[in-house]
Formats: sequence, C-alpha cells, structure tokens
Amino acid sequence: MTSQFQISLSGSDASYACDDGDTLLRAGLRHGLGLAYECNVGACGSCKFDLIEGEVDDLFPAAPGLRPKERERGKRLACQCVPRSDCTIKIRSGAEYASAVRPGRATARCTGRVAVTPDMSIFTFSTGRPAAFLAGQYAMLTVPGVGQNRAYSMSNLANPNGDWEFIIRRVPGGQVSSHLFDTLKPGDSIEIDGPYGVAYLRRDIPRRIVGIAGGSGLAPVMSIMKDSASLPTAGSTPVMLFGGRTPKDIPDVPKLLEGSAAAIEFYPVISAPEPDGSADWSGDTGFVHEFIEHRLSTPLAECEYYLAGPPPMIESVVRLLVAEHKVPASQIHFDRFF
Ligand SMILES: Cc1cc2nc3c(=O)[nH]c(=O)nc-3n(C[C@H](O)[C@H](O)[C@H](O)COP(=O)(O)OP(=O)(O)OC[C@H]3O[C@@H](n4cnc5c(N)ncnc54)[C@H](O)[C@@H]3O)c2cc1C
Ligand code: FES
Repeated sequence: MTSQFQISLSGSDASYACDDGDTLLRAGLRHGLGLAYECNVGACGSCKFDLIEGEVDDLFPAAPGLRPKERERGKRLACQCVPRSDCTIKIRSGAEYASAVRPGRATARCTGRVAVTPDMSIFTFSTGRPAAFLAGQYAMLTVPGVGQNRAYSMSNLANPNGDWEFIIRRVPGGQVSSHLFDTLKPGDSIEIDGPYGVAYLRRDIPRRIVGIAGGSGLAPVMSIMKDSASLPTAGSTPVMLFGGRTPKDIPDVPKLLEGSAAAIEFYPVISAPEPDGSADWSGDTGFVHEFIEHRLSTPLAECEYYLAGPPPMIESVVRLLVAEHKVPASQIHFDRFF
C-alpha cells in the first residue's frame, strides 16, 4: 500500500493527504484545493511556497521558476516538491485554481500518430476510463524509461470513450518529445495525469472567442475551437490566429476541424518567409500579435481571449491587448509553454 503524508495549509483549516511520490501541488489539486499554479513544470514560479514544518525532496533544484534570492530565503516550488514527512506549508490559493474536474492518473495505450507539420504530430491514446477535462486544459505525460514528465495540452474534447489526443512538437534533443517521436509505438503504454490548467474555455461568457496560438500552442486552441461549436455564439464566429515560422509550419486547421461542428475564421501568420517557398504564401507575414486588430471586426475589448504558445508570444499579445486596447486582464486566459 502507498504511504501518505498529511499536508496542512498554514493560516487555514485545510489539509490534505499526499501519496508518497506525489507533488505537493498535484496532491492538493486532486483534493479539490485551489493552490496557485500555472505550468506544473517548475518554470513559472506561481506555486512558490514556504515550508513551515516538515521535510520535502526537491525534484528539480535548478528549476527556473525561482530566482536565486528566493531560494536563499527558503522558497520552494510546490510542483517540484514531494513530501518526506507530514508538512505545514504557506502557499497562495484562490478558487480560480481549483479544477472543475479533479486530476487523476491513468495508464494510457498509444493508438496512433499522424503528422500535422514537419515537426508536429497528433498522438492519440486510450485509457480505460472516460477522458474528463475542459477544452484548453493539459495533462502531464510520463513515458516509461525516461523518468521525466512533461505537460501536453489535449487537442480533442472530453469523451466517455477514454480517447486523448495531443499535438506534440519535436524539440531537437528534447528528452521526452524525442522519446515520443523516436521510440513510442502504437500499443505502448504511458501515464497520463490530469487535467490541469486554468486557460480553459469559459462556457458561460457570451463574448466572442478569440484563440491565438504559436507553434505547439496549437493543441489547446484547437480544443477550444472545437468546443465553441457547442456554445450559443450566434453572430460572433470564433476567430483563430496561428503563428508559425514558415509556410511549412502552418497546419491545415480546416482539415483538423473536420468531424467537429466548429465554424471559425482562421488566420495563419508566418514570421520567416523563405525565399524559395514564400511566393505561394497568401497569408499574413510578421508576428501574430501584429494582426489581431486587423483581423478582428469586433472591438478588441469585447472579446474573450485564449492564448497558448511560447512566453515571448504570450507577453507580446498580452501587452498589446491590455496596454494598447484596454482589454481587461480577466478576459485573457493563457498557458505559457516553457
Ligand atoms: C502548460 C504547458 C502545456 C504544454 N503543451 C504542449 C503541447 O500541447 N504540445 C507540445 O509540443 N508542447 C507542449 N508543452 C511543452 C512541453 O511540455 C515540453 O516542454 C516540450 O515537449 C519539451 O520537452 P522535452 O523533454 O522534449 O525537452 P527538454 O529540453 O528535455 O525539456 C524541456 C523542459 O523541461 C524542463 N526540464 C528539464 N529538466 C528537467 C528536470 N530534471 N525536471 C523537471 N523538468 C525539467 C525544463 O523546463 C526544460 O526547458 C507545454 C508546456 C507547458 C508548460
Ligand atoms: S513553477 Fe510550479 S506551477 Fe509553474
């Protein structure tokens, strides 16, 4: 039987059990608590906490989510710490971080892989229980033999059959993505732990949906676009902008939406036109944030935004929307892909 440690939250009556080997963050979220977080991989720093009592192991002591000064002051990251005893911790929390779907772990069998661009493929998996998540969320994938887990966003919709779909980009030399592309075969098993993430589709907000993705940020925005079909959005077609480097990096989004009822406006943008192939390019050229205003017929402050991709892209988009167009920050939801 797995042993458990009891984790108490300083300044509140809340406490939860953490399985041996589970992180303080994920165990708290599994328990339904709204512990502050974003990336789950040690990069954003949102889950920093003070250890008031007890002992923990740090899985990623060099994690970039903490500055050296914060480490010196004893700060730690809840997504990278596993308890070695009962603990009392002081951590930021808020109801917005508690997932409507409690995260859980499941063994998943790889059922296939289809290329989307030269370096991105859809990987499909099947679990024995329903795939429960909100459009825009991600899961942590652990592949046997690598001993590391990474965050990947679901590109499909929740379903009772246990089908999970991810769009994954091959990172040259990357430990987990290389293993998925070069070693994983249909029939092989991995562990899926999720769902996580707060950049999910707000179904109760009637504003026009705008999805903005860069590179592998494609997956969660595809899921949100698919889910938009089930919303009463009469008169406000969802808009998706996607930024890639060259025309080859632009996925065939209409084809990816086949089989879903979603009807969207899609605007691809490339940042690095190649002299050889760019003659065929009829879309926009530049950085994706430069075309938002041009492509939206609705005033920018009247839309709800879902962003996914590399941190510099997210920062440029957020700066443009908030500083220049006075879009309330509460209307912008994002996961930075570190
Ligand atoms: C919320 C979120 C959602 C994401 N969704 C997608 C997606 O849908 N599709 C996609 O292709 N990518 C996605 N990513 C990126 C993905 O999680 C990986 O970072 C990427 O695939 C590279 O992983 P790698 O192991 O191949 O590369 P590596 O270069 O080996 O590792 C990449 C990152 O892992 C971290 N890392 C390195 N060593 C350790 C360690 N010892 N312990 C813990 N972490 C370590 C570092 O931050 C490093 O930058 C997402 C990232 C986040 C945060
Ligand atoms: S550093 Fe822990 S959630 Fe990002």
